[in-house]
Amino acid sequence: MKVWAIAAQKGGVGKTTTAVSLAGALVSQGARVLMVDLDPHGSMTGYFGYDSNTVEPSIHAIFEAATQQLTHPLNTLVLRMSVRNLTLIPSSTALVTLERRHGQRQGMGLVLKRALMGIAAQYDFCVLDCPPTLGVLVVNALVAADLLVVPVQTDPLSAQAVDRMLHTVHMIERSRKIPLPYLAVPTMFDRRTRASVDTLTALRARPDLNLWSGVIPVDTLFREASRVGQPLTLFQPQARGSQAYLNLASELMQEQTMRTEECVS
Ligand SMILES: Nc1ncnc2c1ncn2[C@@H]1O[C@H](COP(=O)(O)OP(=O)(O)O)[C@@H](O)[C@H]1O
Ligand SMILES: [Mg+2]
Repeated sequence: MKVWAIAAQKGGVGKTTTAVSLAGALVSQGARVLMVDLDPHGSMTGYFGYDSNTVEPSIHAIFEAATQQLTHPLNTLVLRMSVRNLTLIPSSTALVTLERRHGQRQGMGLVLKRALMGIAAQYDFCVLDCPPTLGVLVVNALVAADLLVVPVQTDPLSAQAVDRMLHTVHMIERSRKIPLPYLAVPTMFDRRTRASVDTLTALRARPDLNLWSGVIPVDTLFREASRVGQPLTLFQPQARGSQAYLNLASELMQEQTMRTEECVS
């Protein structure tokens, strides 16, 4: 199982949309995919028709167990959905207090990685949807991840968020002692607006940034897909937005395979 974390230290940049769309794209390629909603706001959970205020159990269970030196098996938390091979572990608003109560506790950053090891044989991919603020949940995601996807809204305020994320990646790499490959992905690109075009040009000019060569366009069908509770990549694979995420997913899968082969040989 490969773990892809979707994170950016900014809200409303397309993290959840990217997580759901990539998960759908992977399923359409025949992969068995587990999505995990790590955001206490529960957008991904809500996308699939569950309420993070009431859904039980949730991913919170593994952190709660860890505070009592216990382990909670992840497979008891998985919700099946109408789409074959697509499953979800929901988030819970209880995650909000995790940081304050247990954020500094020793070993708290490894809880998710350890839990995922227990179900690695049952899935081909795990896609983690992260909250926008750096804390114990994002640290868990970055420690567990084989790959980080950073959605960058093509908006003039995006540069600062990218810098914050790169800083975090370097910090995590020092503690996990193995590189964390990442790809920044321009989102909500609207070629008719000056702001989008200028921001994309500025992002492409940065030598320090591993930026995807494509873009995710603005597509109003994303909202439609969330109303239906299905990834747009499965609901309307021909949509412009779907095509972009399908291309991104296949590039990432190819790279992942190449990296795995390098590690093996
Ligand atoms: N490419 C896009 N085109 C149009 N709307 C988008 C696109 N990506 C995301 N959105 C919309 O923007 C809003 C924020 O996106 P979301 O994925 O929830 O961001 P985040 O998870 O970073 O907060 C949502 O209403 C979503 O439907
Ligand atoms: Mg979100």
